[in-house]
Order: sequence, then structure tokens, then C-alpha cells
Amino acid sequence: MQLIPLSALLAFLSLTSSAAAASDKPLKPCTAISPTTARFFDLNPMHRGPPAKDDNGKKKKSKDEDEGSSWHAKGYDYGANFTVNFCGPVVEELDKVVDLDKDLRKNVSAYYEQDGKTYAIGLENHEPVFRGRKLILNYTGGSLCPSSSSRRDLLPTTLDLSPREIVDGDGDDDDDDKNKDKDDKNKKKPSSSKRRKSSIISLLCDSDPLAKTSVSFVAAVDDCVYFFEGRSPHACGGVHVEKQALGPGGVFGVIVLIAVLVYLVGGCVYQRTVMHQRGWRQLPNYQMWAGIARFATDMFIILTSSCARFLPSRRGYSRVSLGQDSRGRSRRNDDEDRLIDNLDEEWDD
Ligand SMILES: *[C@@H]1O[C@H](CO)[C@@H](O)[C@H](O)[C@H]1NC(C)=O
Ligand SMILES: *[C@@H]1O[C@H](CO)[C@@H](O)[C@H](O)[C@H]1NC(C)=O
Ligand SMILES: *[C@@H]1O[C@H](CO)[C@@H](O)[C@H](O)[C@H]1NC(C)=O
Repeated sequence: MQLIPLSALLAFLSLTSSAAAASDKPLKPCTAISPTTARFFDLNPMHRGPPAKDDNGKKKKSKDEDEGSSWHAKGYDYGANFTVNFCGPVVEELDKVVDLDKDLRKNVSAYYEQDGKTYAIGLENHEPVFRGRKLILNYTGGSLCPSSSSRRDLLPTTLDLSPREIVDGDGDDDDDDKNKDKDDKNKKKPSSSKRRKSSIISLLCDSDPLAKTSVSFVAAVDDCVYFFEGRSPHACGGVHVEKQALGPGGVFGVIVLIAVLVYLVGGCVYQRTVMHQRGWRQLPNYQMWAGIARFATDMFIILTSSCARFLPSRRGYSRVSLGQDSRGRSRRNDDEDRLIDNLDEEWDD
């Protein structure tokens, strides 16, 4: 008798542990789990949505001035201010974006405006990545970068760290020729193979409870790659709640199940060792449960029999059946008890 709940408990425990181990399923977009600390990061709250509209379709006046627009980062000496959003495109509708197809305009996650033109510096990306402990979000595929030859005129040295050139000295001339050819081509017409503007946002945790998300511009390399630093309480990471496969109802059910098991096992042990009960009587509160069971079966018999007769003459019949049945039932119970007692005694020997 005691073995059944125990094995059930063991089976249940193995089930829950296997459910916890099955965390290989793909993550929600815009979330990441740190490989070093195993903390769970969800950047979705950092997404800025379109402005909340009231019933008349007018823009609601909200306490937060910035609500309903994307995140802004001052460019300072860069000469342009940046607009950035997380986990989705920017809220602002872009009419014209330099060197970007019409259907990709809706995907722009970061841009800036300069001389009346809108330059995209990256399309949306829902996969933050970890570089060591740093949480990085990169946006690629923006407007075309200014051609490298024009940059070369401005800057005396270009940042070219291609390892091939360092190792293979002979190839230098060929590469230079090739580069020159490419630059000439690019000058004539911008080809799709050219580099596009991209941005990299390094996200830092701001655990101050009053902290707000903020994005600041750090640097731009060759007007092509833009670096930002984001500070947010949402970049602090937390426990992965979704790993729990059970909902609130499931958790409640598990608690009830465990309570019932503890009641059964503990009650049996108590009745057996302290009260020296045997047979069905070692079940906790046997009298009460037996009474309930008897009542239920009696009710069932009363109802079915009255239905079978198609007559609502419940009074006379039920009394008779109740008396007969309970007598028969108690006799049967006694038989069962005796049988189990015999088994118990054999088992004890
Ligand atoms: C950037 O924004 C600041 C105010 O936030 C404004 O004073 C400045 O003129 C803007 N710069 C450009 C280039 O638009
Ligand atoms: C652009 O966004 C749409 C949905 O908004 C998506 O289906 C499409 O794949 C995105 N394209 C790129 C290149 O990200
Ligand atoms: C940009 O993010 C993608 C994943 O979305 C990743 O595969 C790629 O390595 C990242 N690039 C850089 C330069 O971090």
C-alpha cells in the first residue's frame, strides 16, 4: 500500500526534472541567455511602440514626452542626432531613406537625418548576442557607406587589418590594383555589393530602480559603423521564468497532489505503527472515507434504480435498498479486511 504513492512521487519528480531540462526550445525573439552567468535577458520591454491613441484617434497626451517615439541619442560633434529602437523598427515613419528599398523602410531600426536626408544605419535584429559577458545588439543593412575612395581622400590612413596582407607580402600589389578597380566601379554606380551602414549597441545594466532606458552615441567609424551604448534596467538579466512548463493551475495541482500523497503515506505510517491498524483500516481517516464512499454508492444506486424503474417512487425502494446494501457492503468490507490482515501477517512473518 505504501509503495504505490512513493513510486508515484518518484515518477512525478523525474517528470518535473525532465521538464526543467527541456529548455532547448528556441527563445522568444529579442531574448538571450548569458552563456557565462545563465541569466535570462528580455529586451522586449525596451521596444517603443506607436503613440497611444484616444477614442477620437488623436494622439494622447502622455506624461512622458518621449512616449510614442523611438529612443533618441544626441550626436554632439557628429552633426546629427540618432533615432534608435529595440526589438523592432523605429516608430517614426520614414518617407525616403538614402539607398534603401521602399519595402525595407519599414524595417529600419536606427537612422539619422543630415542635410534633409534620412540615412538608415541598420535594419531590425531580434537576436541579441553575447560577447563574453557583454550583451550586444547589432543592426546591419542600412544605407550605403560612403565609397572608400572618397574616405581615403579625407583620411591619410585607412584601417585595413586584413591578415592576408600581413602574411602574404607578394599579394600586395594585386590587391591594391583590385581595390582600385572596385573603387572606380563604385564611383560610377553604387553596386549592391558595397558596404552598408551598420550599428552596434552595447547594452549595460542599470540597476537603479528609478533608472530609465537611455541610448548614447559613442562613435562612428568612416560614417559606416556606428557604436552606441544603451543603459537599461532591462539589460540586467533575471531568472528564466518560461522554463516552468506548468502554469499557475498546474503548480496548484502539483501542490494538491503532493499534499494528498503526504496525507496518504503519513497517515498509513501513523495508523500502522502507532494505532496498529491493519488492512484497509490503516488508511488515514478510514471511517470517514468509508462513510463517504458508502454514501456515494448508495446515492448512485438510488438514482440509477429510480431511473430504471421510470417511476419517482424513491421513498419505499431507497430505504429497502439502503438497508440491504449497507449490510451487504459491510459484510464484504469485513471479508476484505480479513483477507488483507492475512496477507499482512504473512508478510510480517
Ligand atoms: C540634436 O538635438 C538637440 C536637442 O536634443 C538639438 O539642440 C540639436 O540641434 C540637434 N542636432 C541636430 C544636428 O539636429
Ligand atoms: C522586414 O519586416 C518584415 C515584417 O515587418 C519581415 O517579414 C521581413 O522579413 C523583414 N525584412 C528584413 C530584411 O528584416
Ligand atoms: C550581428 O548579429 C548576428 C546575430 O543577429 C550575429 O550572427 C553576428 O555575428 C553579429 N555581428 C557582429 C559584428 O557582432
